[in-house]
Amino acid sequence: MVIVDFGGCSSFVKDAEFKLWKEKALEAFDVLESEKGEGNDFLGWKTLPVDTPESLIADCEAVRDDWKGLGVDLAVVIGIGGSYLGARCAIEALSHQFVRPEGAIQVVFAGNNLSEEYLAELMDLVRERDAACVVISKSGTTTEPAVAFRVVKEYLEGKYGKAEAARRIVAITDEHKGALKTLSNQEGYRSFIVPDNVGGRFSVLTPVGLLPIVLAGFDVRAMLKGAADEREALLKKCECNPAVQYAAMRNLLYSVYGKKVEILVSYNPKFQYLGEWWKQLYGESEGKDGKGIFPASVNFTTDLHSMGQFIQDGDRVMFETVVKIEKSRREVVIGTDGQNLDQLNYLAGKRVEHCNAMAALGTKLAHIDGGVPQLEVSVEQIDEYNLGAIFYFFEFACGISAYVLGVNPFNQPGVEAYKKNMFALLRKPGYEAQTEEILKRI
Ligand code: PA5
Repeated sequence: MVIVDFGGCSSFVKDAEFKLWKEKALEAFDVLESEKGEGNDFLGWKTLPVDTPESLIADCEAVRDDWKGLGVDLAVVIGIGGSYLGARCAIEALSHQFVRPEGAIQVVFAGNNLSEEYLAELMDLVRERDAACVVISKSGTTTEPAVAFRVVKEYLEGKYGKAEAARRIVAITDEHKGALKTLSNQEGYRSFIVPDNVGGRFSVLTPVGLLPIVLAGFDVRAMLKGAADEREALLKKCECNPAVQYAAMRNLLYSVYGKKVEILVSYNPKFQYLGEWWKQLYGESEGKDGKGIFPASVNFTTDLHSMGQFIQDGDRVMFETVVKIEKSRREVVIGTDGQNLDQLNYLAGKRVEHCNAMAALGTKLAHIDGGVPQLEVSVEQIDEYNLGAIFYFFEFACGISAYVLGVNPFNQPGVEAYKKNMFALLRKPGYEAQTEEILKRI
């Protein structure tokens, strides 16, 4: 379960202010729960932890088992934004960082950028291995994944023939519409549905996240259970609700104290992609109508040696939200050295995680002294159950927080602007007028 702590904010905000903003957050909680707010046709994510049928998980496992039977050892998961960040976050958090378990399918990601070198190097790996592919696009028309898929599909068809390639490709897309749906029907790919009422950044507990996580060998039942337990805790309407409190404190810091940047901090590199997932969730949900807290992320202690100076001493625009992991699942104890030339014997017998915890505490005190309020969001350990809880916590709090801010959490109109220009510059049919216009500007 997720626990929040606001002790690191107490010297910045008054109790009465926090209480007032909790009341505002409770009103927003009602908007979310009554499903009468803006964007209320995109609330399907709220019940995914309790609605997801066992048959869906079994279907994901059937793909994994079929592919393993074919000898597949590499799955290329193609998607961008909400169609990839949740899966990547979970897989990076749960995987061994250096060793691939024997017999496991390695999951790699493509279609999340337009870098030619990235794709070429990925194909170098694909050619060496026994590959299959999951292509994910809710709209079915996004350029980045479509380009990558064309390359991967051509390769798979060339190597395995059209029929076996079709068995090695799974599409996750809209139930009825879009280019990917048409293609998948025509080619006979197995397919999974992205529900209409779930937006990309809220889709990690749909097949968009579940299938890649199953392929990588992790337990999505435990993840859904963690999310379901978290949901139950967050449905309590009270000032003690951690999602209400988190939404209240961040809006208070933003609106009253001008803290326009929130930095998600982790002290474990396994959570680097939690930061990426969280940035999309909050950035796309809140950054609109000229408003919003800019979401940033850092990994400490690594980034204390790069971003630490600014956070300690630069423009005082930020607050931190530290994702704290109570328990390390591995143990490394620092030994004694007879010569002690490195002068580390004072740490002999101590666990590395103890040093990490002391670094975190020291940083907290220093940053508070430097004018940076600190929120803490804690979980027991990194595993499927707790990740499910974290996903649900941040999603639910995001809905409340955006309603407190007064924006629709579930649309993303700003994402279209770059696409129009790109299509015009690429001379996509239908964009001729924009091409003329844009060529005059460059
Ligand atoms: O959250 C969102 O809606 C976006 O980030 C989308 O997930 C992203 O643009 C990919 O879209 P699609 O799944 O339609 O390819």
